[in-house]
Amino acid sequence: MNTNQDLVNYNVATRMRNVSSSAIRDLLKHASEPGMISLAGGLPAPDLFDLEGLSQASAEVMRDIPVSALQYGVTAGSPELRKSLVTLMHTRGASVDADDMVVTTGSQQGIDLMARVLLDAGDIVCVERPSYLAAIQTFALAQAKFVGVEVDDHGMDVDALEIMLDTCAVKPKMIYTVATFANPSGATMSLERRKKLLQLAVKHQVFVVEDDPYGELRSSGHTLPPLIAIAKDIPGAEAWCGYLSTLSKILAPGFRIGWMILPPALRNYAEIAKQGMDLHTSTFTQAVAARYLDSGRLYERLPSIRASYKERNEALTNALQRHLAGALDYVQPDGGMFLWAKWTDASINSAALLKYALPEKMIFVPGEHFYADAPVRHAIRLSFATPTPKQLDEGIWRLAVAVDKMRAASASASLSSSTPQIARAA
Ligand SMILES: Cc1ncc(COP(=O)(O)O)c(C=O)c1O
Repeated sequence: MNTNQDLVNYNVATRMRNVSSSAIRDLLKHASEPGMISLAGGLPAPDLFDLEGLSQASAEVMRDIPVSALQYGVTAGSPELRKSLVTLMHTRGASVDADDMVVTTGSQQGIDLMARVLLDAGDIVCVERPSYLAAIQTFALAQAKFVGVEVDDHGMDVDALEIMLDTCAVKPKMIYTVATFANPSGATMSLERRKKLLQLAVKHQVFVVEDDPYGELRSSGHTLPPLIAIAKDIPGAEAWCGYLSTLSKILAPGFRIGWMILPPALRNYAEIAKQGMDLHTSTFTQAVAARYLDSGRLYERLPSIRASYKERNEALTNALQRHLAGALDYVQPDGGMFLWAKWTDASINSAALLKYALPEKMIFVPGEHFYADAPVRHAIRLSFATPTPKQLDEGIWRLAVAVDKMRAASASASLSSSTPQIARAA
């Protein structure tokens, strides 16, 4: 086609005008360059995919239930998969029924469904500072406004949230939290804070959405129950919280299988909204996932999956000690896939540093992308999920080289800009 696209005014919807493509999706284009070490994406380690078990489950589905696996299905999700997911939820301490659940096309769709069900343009969403980039993007598409709540080592600062809720002129509609091994902060919300968050939700009648892709990937410390499990003991709380999760990080993201657990009225709306999006999640991948979960292989493999991420997590912090000691402030996460850090020299702008890291063949995500507003420019997110421990060491070495090169370039720039001044003064 010969059209000059720049000259065409499509008059796109207002909601599209202030959103941009995800910085991480854009960065991931570099990840496949030869020799690149990527600490950018949260891509599960490919060596942890159970190729044998999944091939077997796929073959069984095609042998035993080919027609139902290839036919249209119900919007809420296949009864078999929902039953298998109920069992999985019981292992997480949440006693739920298959009817409480809607299978989604990844938990990303769950986030989008929550936005569609709850948010009108101009409604306020509370998000963590920093928060999951694609959730910010989804809420921005829904034309929501943001209120950021700071995160520390124990997750969202619920005391700050309380002050905000007690004093705000317009009540938020939703609080979105990644309470366990958050993306990007790596932080886990303490039990006390989880309880207080639910009490605040009930008191102020604000719906809390817990997004939990990483909770299974604990490498140290004690397991904490999801908010929907704690809600059973807090009067009124079950009506004010929902739960999203996914098989992406423990099985395979290509399956696009997630699920949401919501109070009945909201679940009904979510199903209606999902009908308009994709009718239902792929019946084929649902059937394979159900077979696979029922085979017990996931439960057998989870300890070694956790051990592998623990090894990577430790390899990253060891590498930071070795090559960048004292340069970054961070707390080693108890699990998940991400380490969040800030340069002790706050003048280091991580986005500028990325330009020096790219030629060294390593990438990371500058922290500024994870803020709905007032970005912190000297923050950095390092994912330890995909590279091997050896690659993590090499990646951090390359990052250290990039820091040196950026410092050298800025020193020589200030030298050359100061030279004429000296000459003039002389
Ligand atoms: C916090 C969070 N929520 C949701 C998702 C989306 O996962 P899914 O593949 O299930 O759509 C991710 C993926 O990285 C994530 O980090």
